[in-house]
Amino acid sequence: MGKGPATLERFGQVALPVGAVRDGEVIDSDAVAAAIKQLWAQAKFSTKKVVVGVANQKVVVRQVDLPWLPVNELRKSLSFQVQDFIPMPVEQAILDFHPLEEFTNDAGGRMLRVLLVAAARDMVGSAMDAVTKAGLQPAMVDLTSFAVLRSQVTASAGFAVEAEALVDIGASVTNIVVHHGGVPRFVRILLMGGADITDAVAERLGVPTDQAETVKQTNGLSTGGMVESHPASRAIEQTGGAFVEEVRGSLDYYLAQPGAARIGRVVLSGGGSRLGGLVERLSAATRLPVEVARPMSALKIGKTGLTDDQLAYVEPMVAVPVGLAMGVAS
Ligand SMILES: Nc1ncnc2c1ncn2[C@@H]1O[C@H](COP(=O)(O)OP(=O)(O)OP(=O)(O)O)[C@@H](O)[C@H]1O
Ligand SMILES: [Mg+2]
Repeated sequence: MGKGPATLERFGQVALPVGAVRDGEVIDSDAVAAAIKQLWAQAKFSTKKVVVGVANQKVVVRQVDLPWLPVNELRKSLSFQVQDFIPMPVEQAILDFHPLEEFTNDAGGRMLRVLLVAAARDMVGSAMDAVTKAGLQPAMVDLTSFAVLRSQVTASAGFAVEAEALVDIGASVTNIVVHHGGVPRFVRILLMGGADITDAVAERLGVPTDQAETVKQTNGLSTGGMVESHPASRAIEQTGGAFVEEVRGSLDYYLAQPGAARIGRVVLSGGGSRLGGLVERLSAATRLPVEVARPMSALKIGKTGLTDDQLAYVEPMVAVPVGLAMGVAS
């Protein structure tokens, strides 16, 4: 790809049948393949080349300190060095890493601190199956969190003094990535998202999911301190409040790690970030400025067929697909 901004040519999304993907893992690759085919027909994407994003419990990202090696040698010997740090047999994992910094340990040894990524081979395989069954060609597999980062990091990021926390809130998975100057420092994948709040409302009120979704979107989280006693408000408060606490806990965990940089602000994306009151509540809990991502601001907008209103509506949702696409474009 040339210099200058990338162009958003098309945008499309399709709902998956219930049970096709659970907690971010492809369960029924035929159902997912059928949905992808439908999406391709609907959105008229001209390419078959795709980047697959993964975010679930079968991928772990950890900060690990290893004896220093040149990066290319470390890559070759990675599988011999990391078994103690990952919760799966190393033979069943796809490994990757990002070098963070060099340092000298207490014994005077030269060390390299890295962000280690380990993904279960079979989980990645199921995602690839769905894509190939749909007739597409996977060019790359990436961590969804890294896509979120790529969609929002600008050329000036390298000069940042403070770290920044990006939080992409989906229906059932939330990706948290803390980066410093564009380098990922911390990743946490939460198996929580907007659907947990909707489900809680549905259960509390005894109404179907679509109706609960409307109730959730109309009410949002309280910001004034007083929680309304309506059962729906209480359900939103409980699940939404637990979500806010979980994000805050994740950022605290990052801040307690060796070498952590101060976080300057939190930026939200994903459909779940639209929940009323969430920006205020996260800001109060973290004592940080919280903003909503503008992943389209760095893009040229092509003839997408969408109106300006529709584009503004989908903007929080484009962070992940745009970031994934930029992974092969760059
Ligand atoms: N106005 C709104 N208020 C509250 N929540 C909203 C609003 N609009 C969308 N959402 C929530 O956004 C979520 C969907 O977001 P998104 O499309 O980013 O998720 P997804 O990528 O499909 O899910 P996942 O990443 O978990 O696979 C749903 O839970 C939905 O309830
Ligand atoms: Mg998502």
